[in-house]
Amino acid sequence: MSERLVTMIDAPTIAARVKELGAEISKAYEGKNLVLVVVLKGSFVFAADLARAIEGNLRVDFLGVRSYGEGTETSGVVQITQDLSRPIAGEDVLIVEDIVDTGLTIAHLMDLFRTRNPRSVRVCALLHKPARARVSVEVDYLGFTIEDKFVVGYGLDFGEKYRNLPYIGIVERS
Ligand code: IMP
Ligand code: MG
Repeated sequence: MSERLVTMIDAPTIAARVKELGAEISKAYEGKNLVLVVVLKGSFVFAADLARAIEGNLRVDFLGVRSYGEGTETSGVVQITQDLSRPIAGEDVLIVEDIVDTGLTIAHLMDLFRTRNPRSVRVCALLHKPARARVSVEVDYLGFTIEDKFVVGYGLDFGEKYRNLPYIGIVERS
């Protein structure tokens, strides 16, 4: 089987949208104790760009999560593979996700974080595939709504491949 990549969202379009999100977030969190919680591994590229588009003080922490096997379907079981390095009590948490697909990961993280008494918890996702939602989750800051296609690049993988692509692409197999 051979794989072909088709561009869905090019790098300049992503960069422009990330700038806008950064400006919106900078305004909303002015004077607050913002913590970016980067959901690994898929969000590392988005988070690196987003953090630099946000003005003002923030701290960054990382959370390892696994919901997929090697395939393209979520297993439905969200596993924490690496926890945050510090408490988030009293802080304003912004979860940074690459993509909200079934919504199970975000729903699980919202439940988990609420037990740790942060001042607020919101979600910033680069991509959202509403067609596949299994639970409803609110995405407070959203880059793009996309159709139900499996996408790669800009941090997103297919079997750990393609994370380094500078754009969002669709893998076509033939
Ligand atoms: P959810 O729990 O189904 O919302 O899925 C969340 C996670 O699944 C995302 O953070 C991604 O890591 C992964 N995922 C979902 N859709 C895609 C896709 O189209 N390409 C690559 N990874 C995806
Ligand atoms: Mg992810």
